[in-house]
Parts: sequence; structure tokens; C-alpha cells
Amino acid sequence: MKVLVATEKPFASAAITQIREAVEKGGHEMVLLEKYKTPQELYAVAGDADAMIVRSDIVDAALIGAAPKLKIVVRAGAGYDNLDLNACTGNNIVAMNTPGQNSNAVAELAFGMMLFSARGGFDGKTGSELMGKTLGLHAFGNVGKCMAHIGTGLGMKILAFDPFVDRKIMTDAGVTPVETVEDLYSSCQYVSLHIPANDRTRNSIGEKLLSLMPPGAVLVNTARKEVINEAELVTVMEKRSDMKYLSDVAPDNAELYAQKFAGRYFFTPKKMGAQTEEANINAGVAAARQIVSFFATGDETFRVNKPK
Ligand code: 3PG
Repeated sequence: MKVLVATEKPFASAAITQIREAVEKGGHEMVLLEKYKTPQELYAVAGDADAMIVRSDIVDAALIGAAPKLKIVVRAGAGYDNLDLNACTGNNIVAMNTPGQNSNAVAELAFGMMLFSARGGFDGKTGSELMGKTLGLHAFGNVGKCMAHIGTGLGMKILAFDPFVDRKIMTDAGVTPVETVEDLYSSCQYVSLHIPANDRTRNSIGEKLLSLMPPGAVLVNTARKEVINEAELVTVMEKRSDMKYLSDVAPDNAELYAQKFAGRYFFTPKKMGAQTEEANINAGVAAARQIVSFFATGDETFRVNKPK
């Protein structure tokens, strides 16, 4: 079988070596397409792919139409909002993700941004510490757990809101569960987002929640820019000169921040939460192994779409 690794944002070369080894050990052939500039470049190589490994690359009906042999697509990462699950199901394609494989990298980036901001971007002036501050985790999945672990080490008090996770899982991790999302925002100086982007969450973080945050509020977004109501965030930051926004990838209205909120924001130039060699190896090799196992035994662990 042909396994196409199609990543506009390339994996580290050590990850590619290990992905290739896993694919070939399973008796398959790996084809690599990196840094493609147009969807057409991807369509051109997808024609004879039986399986595909992607990152945040868009897998939509047009790509699926150009890949008639495709049987499985694995998103090497956690969030699969880039996959059209209905189109996969409609074409008998199994869609999977690789949950947990890049979570530590994302959590380390969140804390990196928090420390950078607390020290004023290392500008030589007096900053503040994270120790003793309250951190609210909006969702307690794999990244949330890593956040709790690191935050506890830094001496932060950690609260979490996640109606889909058993309270005991949170308390066992030393985290205090809160009953409502409003409780989280009103109790935490730092709030870190770990929700997926879907129909329920898109545009859901706006004025109603952000205006509840205590003085010195810092919103940390390593989830997706789409979960933020960008216009309302600007409104809140205009009203509150104490508020900061740190985000893994700039919002669409980023130029407004440069004009209005100097020193109160930080945006990565490119989504880079999972951009470590370790996370690339973990997620890429997991994706390759899931494909090998699917072809060998029909294993559908980590399938995220419904069967037809
Ligand atoms: C994820 O959902 O796993 C992360 O956002 C990583 O995305 P990336 O593979 O595009 O870096």
C-alpha cells in the first residue's frame, strides 16, 4: 500500500526517518510531500495513495475526490477540525487522530508564553511570578493533564472545568474541579484553553466569560483561534488595560493588537504547539503504526468518524 505523508508544515527529519521505518516494516511504501503551496500539488500525489498522514492539512471533499484509492487518513495530532468527517464516512474512509502524542509539547509552549509574558517579554524590567497564581484549565484532556503537572511544579493553584471528565480524574491530578465555566473564569487570573474547535465551541470565548476574569487576567490559547470571538476579545481588552492575550497563532485581526495593545499580547508566527522533534516523532510514528495495524488487522482504535 502507498502511505502518503502530506504535511504543509514538515515534521522534523528524525520523525520522517522513523515514520518511514514504521511504514516499511509494515510492508508498505511511504511517499513524502512537504511544504506544498497549493491544494492542487497535494491532489496530484494523492491519486494513488491508499493511506494518508496529515497534520493541520485540509482533508476535504475535493481532496477525497482526488484520492479514489484512499482507505484511511490519520491526523498526526489531537485536533481533527481539519478533516471533513462526513466526506470520509461517505467515501468509506476511516479517519483517526493520535491523541496524547503531542500534548506535552503544547503544554510546554503554553507555560513558555506565560513565563515570557509574566517577565514582560524579558525586557529587563520588574515582572511577576507564576508561583501562587491561579490557573484555570478550560477542558481537562491530554493537554490539560500535562498543564496540571507542570503548573503544580511551578506552585500554581489549578482549577479545571470539563463536564466530560470525571471529577476524580481531576482531583487525582491535584486539580480542583469547578461546576460551571463561569466559576472557572471568575476564579482564575490565568485561563488556558484546551477545548476542540467544533460547532459548540467556535466563537464561544467572548465578553461574557472574559469580563469575569480577576485583575491581571491572562488568556492563553494553544487550542484554536476559531474558539475565540475575536471582536469581543478586542472589546474586553479595550475596556480592561490589565488584560493580556497569548496565543499559539495570531488571530485574524492581529494588526489591531499591534495598534492598540502593545506589550499585552504575544502570538506565535505559525502554529507551533506541537512543533518539537519529540512531538513530531510521537505523533508521526503513532500515525504510521495505526495505519500499519489497520491494514494488518482492521484495527480502528482512535477512529473519529462514523462508519457508513
Ligand atoms: C494538534 O491538534 O495536535 C495540534 O494543534 C498540532 O497541530 P500541527 O500538527 O499542525 O502542529
